Amino acid sequence: MAETTFKSFIFYCSPAGTTRHAAKVIESKLKLGKREVTVCEIGKDEKQLTQVLRNLAETEGKVSVFIGSPVYASHALPLIVDLIERLPAKNQSYAVPFATWGGATSGLALEEMGAALAARGYGVIAAAKILAVHSLMWQLENPVGLGHPNAADDRLLEELVDGVEKNLGLPEPLLLLPAILEYQPRPMVEDMLKLNLQIAKGILPQRTVNEDVCTQCGECVAQCPVAALTLTPWPVFAEHCILCFNCMRLCPENAIEADLTAIYDRVRQRAEAAREGVPSQIYLP
Ligand SMILES: Cc1cc2nc3c(=O)[nH]c(=O)nc-3n(C[C@H](O)[C@H](O)[C@H](O)COP(=O)(O)O)c2cc1C
Ligand code: SF4
Ligand code: SF4
Repeated sequence: MAETTFKSFIFYCSPAGTTRHAAKVIESKLKLGKREVTVCEIGKDEKQLTQVLRNLAETEGKVSVFIGSPVYASHALPLIVDLIERLPAKNQSYAVPFATWGGATSGLALEEMGAALAARGYGVIAAAKILAVHSLMWQLENPVGLGHPNAADDRLLEELVDGVEKNLGLPEPLLLLPAILEYQPRPMVEDMLKLNLQIAKGILPQRTVNEDVCTQCGECVAQCPVAALTLTPWPVFAEHCILCFNCMRLCPENAIEADLTAIYDRVRQRAEAAREGVPSQIYLP
């Protein structure tokens, strides 16, 4: 039996489920190697998150922290960046950022998560970007990223865990050079820095609630990953809504409406402009 010399934590947010899938592959592989793993989906349950962060702070010895975010508007989700800033300062703490992206561009998510983790004192020892179906295109038969993550993507994630395990077995684990995550062509970085979720709010279409068909069933409230919806008595979107469109996608009455056709063109144009050759990739030192 493998000796357990360190614990692993997995934090992620996953409105449409693909980052959760990646997190589960990582969790299963870690458990196969008899690692103790704590998993925390963030966004809704602040009490649970606080408790897990406390457990992390109290864990002795080496820890590996996997942090997963979908790419939104070329960046990691702001709530993931906020989480990184809340990670407890620790000795022997190592981090693995992973991002799911919808085939437009993986943007600066890994680069920025890596830099933020290093600034918190976490040694970045690996990273991964995994292609996934674009979560704004669920109404299309042929969305960008269709079929991903697939079995080959899962295998890459398993290889990632193997590499991390091997590396952590060294007395001084090897760190990933920051330049490895700075893979976007620098002229494109300028454009990516001009976009963020707040700006995307002005680009994405407004949602309206059709009060004639809404039954006030509360499903949208239950499915919102960041508790940004209230029924008063119709659904009202709070400022911290992350525009995942879960509420619209999962409403059983199709009572939430928005015209996403202009976005489809935009996603395809961005995919064409970015020409990100490698769909899914793991980065190891
Ligand atoms: C508001 C919004 C913005 C997005 N921005 C990007 C992007 O900049 N680049 C990209 O490739 N995919 C983008 N996506 C697609 C997601 O990154 C992708 O579908 C991801 O797998 C979703 O993760 P989840 O299934 O865990 O929610 C965006 C999706 C949404 C809803
Ligand atoms: S899920 Fe749809 S029908 Fe139910 S409360 Fe929300 S908008 Fe109304
Ligand atoms: S209100 Fe709707 S779009 Fe906004 S975060 Fe919640 S589920 Fe996503």
